[in-house]
Amino acid sequence: MTQTVSRPAGAPQAPLPLDVEAIRADFPILGRTVRNGRRLVYLDSGATSQKPRSVLDAERDFYENHNAAPHRGAHQLAEEATGLYEAARATIGAFIGAPENEIVFTRNTTDAINTVAYALSNAATAKEPAFRRYAVGQGDEIVVTEMEHHANLVPWQQLCERTGATLRWLGLTDDGRLDLANLATVVNDRTKLVAVTQQSNILGTINPLGDIVARAREVGALVLVDGAQSVPHQPVDVTALGADFLVFSGHKMLGPTGVGVLWGRYDVLDALPPFLTGGSMIEVVRMEGSTFMPPPQRFEAGVPMTAQVIGLGAAVEYLQRLGMDKVEAHEQALTGYALARLAEIPGVTVIGPPDTVARGGAVSFTVEGIHPHDVGQVLDDLGIAVRVGHHCAWPVVRRYGVPATTRATFYVHTGYDDIDALADGIRSAQQFFGVAAGGVS
Ligand code: ALA
Repeated sequence: MTQTVSRPAGAPQAPLPLDVEAIRADFPILGRTVRNGRRLVYLDSGATSQKPRSVLDAERDFYENHNAAPHRGAHQLAEEATGLYEAARATIGAFIGAPENEIVFTRNTTDAINTVAYALSNAATAKEPAFRRYAVGQGDEIVVTEMEHHANLVPWQQLCERTGATLRWLGLTDDGRLDLANLATVVNDRTKLVAVTQQSNILGTINPLGDIVARAREVGALVLVDGAQSVPHQPVDVTALGADFLVFSGHKMLGPTGVGVLWGRYDVLDALPPFLTGGSMIEVVRMEGSTFMPPPQRFEAGVPMTAQVIGLGAAVEYLQRLGMDKVEAHEQALTGYALARLAEIPGVTVIGPPDTVARGGAVSFTVEGIHPHDVGQVLDDLGIAVRVGHHCAWPVVRRYGVPATTRATFYVHTGYDDIDALADGIRSAQQFFGVAAGGVS
């Protein structure tokens, strides 16, 4: 399939806030070609981000020069590994305005949410009375929204099955936003926890967390914010957020796979029993029973993902050098441009807010007459990587009456040229399947 890359008919675009060419040079993978020599147009950072050299170097340096199990062993390497691991905790905490004792390392967002969900059900049977404060049981309610990723839905369904609690949810409006009309009844005196995404991975919607947190506070409910799609893309400060938990994944923010973060308010973490138990999270172990360390160690059983945590520290430093305000502005400009370019193509429908108001850089769409998987296939042939399917948010595609979508997501190395390639790729798909005049402009 051949492709020429067009520019839109409209006015020239303002320069992007980030220097895309300089940033691309930092990402070794962007130097490779795909599908018979085509430039890699990577529009799937929402699934996982690519990694800059400084992150790869940090992991390699750890293994080559300092590898040991942190918080164990009295030798020099163990001391160095502990120092690097804890320094990364401080860096990552500072990135979201949190002290290091509120940062728990997990495998990813999913793992972090399960850690909280299991802590809440374990609380009901905890021997230690101090751990029963947040116990969830029959008569209690957990509130989610219809736009949650499965990671912020299924663990709560399972918590309800384990405890007899009831799951309730806030619905969506036709234009891809949370419907808060029933907020005061859905979040009520029975609500124990509200779990909500800050930015939808499929719609791109940025949610009005202030309203939700305020209502949860009125009824004494905990709030967990899924930051998997927000922390990588906008400045997030836990004090301003006002929630009790914030969870996010390293691999979506230029860091390695296998590391995520559970931030929790210290007094809340301190009142929760552990989920996983074993080495390094204990105070005293006897055959008759054990006591546990304070947070964050209470929630970090086993030898941790040390190289990954150090790599995530390097990723955070890279993002801080760029400046999160600029990262956010960059993606806003790209999102506006992408929405405009897609609007030019007959038969393309964006699933999600049609403008850049309270909206991030996840643009899902359908192309009339072509299944999203086929759109993805044609784009892939052109070297353009997007995600297709239900994006682990099945209730959302059901809500909007589509079988699936094609989704483009942006990051710091994304430029207008990537979006031009996407727009022309969609027209190529239309030509290939003969569904519209389309045509490369
Ligand atoms: N949660 C990731 C996504 O939205 C995998 O693609």
